[in-house]
Amino acid sequence: MTLHTPLCDLLGIEHPVVQGPLGGPWDVSVELVAAVSNAGGLGSIAAAFKEPDQLRDEIRRCALLTQGRPFAVNHTRRPFDEEAFAVTLEEQPPVVSLALGEPGDVVQRAHDAGSLVVLQVTTVGQAVRAAEAGVDVIVAQGAEAGGFSGGIGTLALVPQVVDAVAPVPVLAAGGIADGRGLAAALVLGAQGVNVGTRFLGSTEAAIAQTWKRAIVEAQSEDAVKVGFADELVPPPSEGGWLTVPRALRTAFIDRWSDEPDETAALRAEFAEAMRSGRAHDYLPLTGQSAGLIHEVIPAAEIVGRLIGEAEAALTFASGAGAGVPR
Ligand SMILES: Cc1cc2nc3c(=O)[nH]c(=O)nc-3n(C[C@H](O)[C@H](O)[C@H](O)COP(=O)(O)O)c2cc1C
Repeated sequence: MTLHTPLCDLLGIEHPVVQGPLGGPWDVSVELVAAVSNAGGLGSIAAAFKEPDQLRDEIRRCALLTQGRPFAVNHTRRPFDEEAFAVTLEEQPPVVSLALGEPGDVVQRAHDAGSLVVLQVTTVGQAVRAAEAGVDVIVAQGAEAGGFSGGIGTLALVPQVVDAVAPVPVLAAGGIADGRGLAAALVLGAQGVNVGTRFLGSTEAAIAQTWKRAIVEAQSEDAVKVGFADELVPPPSEGGWLTVPRALRTAFIDRWSDEPDETAALRAEFAEAMRSGRAHDYLPLTGQSAGLIHEVIPAAEIVGRLIGEAEAALTFASGAGAGVPR
């Protein structure tokens, strides 16, 4: 069995595995993006928090490292940086992705630049609007996900989005870190997966070692929704969707809840942490799938395991196998 879906042909990839963008005030590394694309998946550069020139450098470096293999450049509506988006359009990456808000004119502009468009949604209504706007692929992201998501779980959301937007292909996201998750996504009607947290725990991810160790040691219940995030990073006044980030619990998160009178001081502390490159000690965006991650391994191995395990899980589920896979 080789796992290949029509989405692979559309995106020009071998395996239906997308590395979700991992934006924030930290460097995840373009090497990770390239490693996923070179392993036959689709890597994604996150534009969030990057100066336009830095983004241009990363896109060019990724193109060099991947030698014609496709990769994505991601923007979000929290906030939408017009200058950075202009850089993306000039560089004409194979895929442009957008998250956290209405597609608006992004779809047309990216299509005009020759890029395919992927849009992340967290409700069926958003998915329908995305399909009407002409996006090529929809990411249905459940509440288990690391980073910003809505309140609907992946298992309930994905088949509803698949039904609502057919024939637009859907990627399942949120809570997927091994091949059983990929197999489940395919059974739900998705044509692949968009995986974030598992790739934070990769050799190539340039995040702090303390964060990687915390992911390996975490239980799923340690990855909590951070309801006060809007007070740290205000949502856009228009075009943005209601989302709440999920992060590994930290002393900062606990203090915000325990000391309601101190939020002004805590906000200042967080701003300083962002300036000094320590935001991950305060708000390490991470999903519930951290509980499934037990070791840091190269990105290509993550892709390989996802495919191999999914094939085994699907064989098992079809009744042809004996015993529980893994
Ligand atoms: C640290 C981190 C940063 C993220 N940044 C972005 C981003 O900039 N843009 C985006 O579209 N999604 C972002 N996401 C979401 C991921 O791309 C992906 O959709 C999500 O992690 C999938 O769920 P999982 O964490 O359960 O695999 C981020 C997720 C994490 C964990």
